[in-house]
Amino acid sequence: MKIDLVTIFPGILEGPFKESMIKRAVDRNLVEINLVDLRQYTHDRHRQVDDTPYGGGCGMILKPEPLFEAVEDLKNKTAANRTRVILLTPQGHKFNQQMARQLSGEEHLIMICGRYEGVDERVRSGIVDIELSIGDYVLTGGEIAAAVVVDAVVRLLPGFISEEAAANESFSEPLLEHPHYTRPPEYRDMKVPDVLLSGNHGEIEKWRRQQSLKRTYERRPDLLEQAELSTEDMEYLENISKSNN
Ligand code: ADE
Repeated sequence: MKIDLVTIFPGILEGPFKESMIKRAVDRNLVEINLVDLRQYTHDRHRQVDDTPYGGGCGMILKPEPLFEAVEDLKNKTAANRTRVILLTPQGHKFNQQMARQLSGEEHLIMICGRYEGVDERVRSGIVDIELSIGDYVLTGGEIAAAVVVDAVVRLLPGFISEEAAANESFSEPLLEHPHYTRPPEYRDMKVPDVLLSGNHGEIEKWRRQQSLKRTYERRPDLLEQAELSTEDMEYLENISKSNN
């Protein structure tokens, strides 16, 4: 997979891909990540990438010409059969694990990091395939949102983590994860639950499943509607809800 990130502040994105697991994926050639400075596609002395909005109002709008030229150039430079152009904006579809999974199957992504008050509408209608938001809050620009999307997508690439680990975690199945513990068995009067030290794998699995159901019930009951629940799961949930009333 190749990911091009188009931004006027490449410095913001220099850190996130140079550490830890994403760096390892880059080093192992699972993914190529390029930071593309939008100003490189300007032709004037001031390298202007934005301008005031027609009709008045405050803020600056990213101009169409550098963005069109950048996307055309990046598409020409790749051997990929298909490119998906993504604009990060608070007005986009809300990003989730299912979208991350879909994007992880693409060959080439171009991510445009929006800035200021927005981008010229002709960019949206002319070159963008998908508009994504990472949540209902407004950031100063799309760079950090793009880093979030890249991180979520890259860790799903084949070979990044084991299939089993990927399937086990929150949001693959729509339940929150059970609590985790490591050594020591007791710390400041807080004990690791006995069952986890018991060595009884059947009981451990049961405890984990129940903790997972309980957490989801308490924190994200909306997720339970999409979960595949066994009769045992449903009985357990009935009992929690009864004991809460
Ligand atoms: N740009 C500003 N806020 C954003 C958000 N919430 N998601 C994606 N891009 C953004």
